[in-house]
Amino acid sequence: MKRLISASILVLAACASAPAAEAPAQAWNTLTGERPIVIAHRGASGLYPEHTMMAYKAAIAQGADFIEPDLVMTSDGVLIARHDLYLSATTDIADHPEFADRKVARQMPFGEQEDWWADDFTFAEIQTLKARQQFEGRSMEYNDTLDLVTFDEVMDLVLAEAEKGNIVGLHVEAKWPSHYASIGKGLADPILDAMKAKGLKEAGIPVYIQCFEPPFLAEVAEKSDLPLIQNMVGAPYASMMGLEYDLDAMTTDGVGADVSYVLGKHGQPTDFVARAHDAGLLVHVYTVRDDRPDAPFTGSRDELKVLFDAGVDGIWADFPATAVEVRGK
Ligand code: G3P
Ligand code: CA
Repeated sequence: MKRLISASILVLAACASAPAAEAPAQAWNTLTGERPIVIAHRGASGLYPEHTMMAYKAAIAQGADFIEPDLVMTSDGVLIARHDLYLSATTDIADHPEFADRKVARQMPFGEQEDWWADDFTFAEIQTLKARQQFEGRSMEYNDTLDLVTFDEVMDLVLAEAEKGNIVGLHVEAKWPSHYASIGKGLADPILDAMKAKGLKEAGIPVYIQCFEPPFLAEVAEKSDLPLIQNMVGAPYASMMGLEYDLDAMTTDGVGADVSYVLGKHGQPTDFVARAHDAGLLVHVYTVRDDRPDAPFTGSRDELKVLFDAGVDGIWADFPATAVEVRGK
């Protein structure tokens, strides 16, 4: 049975981070009628290397309601914020000769990949790396200057904000829990234990737990009352992977839907949001990027407006300032 999200928590998050210039209360087509949330995708990752303190802090300064740490775990059990298990795309590991012989091939969903893998390295080794921007056309100014961060450090950041009266939530994604299970490790307990140790609940920090893998979310549902988001692989990959999603059968509080579910190829809203809402599900949609709007949009502001009008409950944005601005209009 779906659990009801505490509307008061979401309202608290929305109000605490609302820039003064934003429009007054208005009717939203969201599940609860509340203002949709802006989720800083990997921080303000369009501006700074993803999952760095600089990216998270910028997102908070820009008025994001939630920052998003994607979590992987090192060989010695430390949760770090990385989007991928492989490290070559977002760190300088290829320039570390001491790790040259640690590059190994793994089978990934779409073929074999040779790389350096986060769970093959200790946290001490990870601490010797620096972050990099992976997308062409974005600033490379901060490459090789910023540390990778732990989940503990991300939690400390939002707790410090809360101390200042600014409530910013965490939209936490567990990455590849099935891989960790295959090597005899779990992600659910480390994540839940870490949040409990930090006292996020007591501090009033809103939290969503999201994942692409249903068994992980089922485990978290058994062990906590946190709101859960079932991420959905988008087109064309879902069909390539043989994935089908039944909204009526979902037991999570919401879905994390690729834009391809919510908007058709001409940019028009599909019936997805209505069907999800009818099933009692929140719809958080990924990912809007100023420098890479989804076709046929030529600017992210137009895409964001259509998504907000369609009634989505949240949007992951690489440039959260733009999402906050469009929402305010
Ligand atoms: O977690 C959903 C959203 O962040 C998009 O997924 O692959 O960028 O982590 P991904
Ligand atoms: Ca994510």
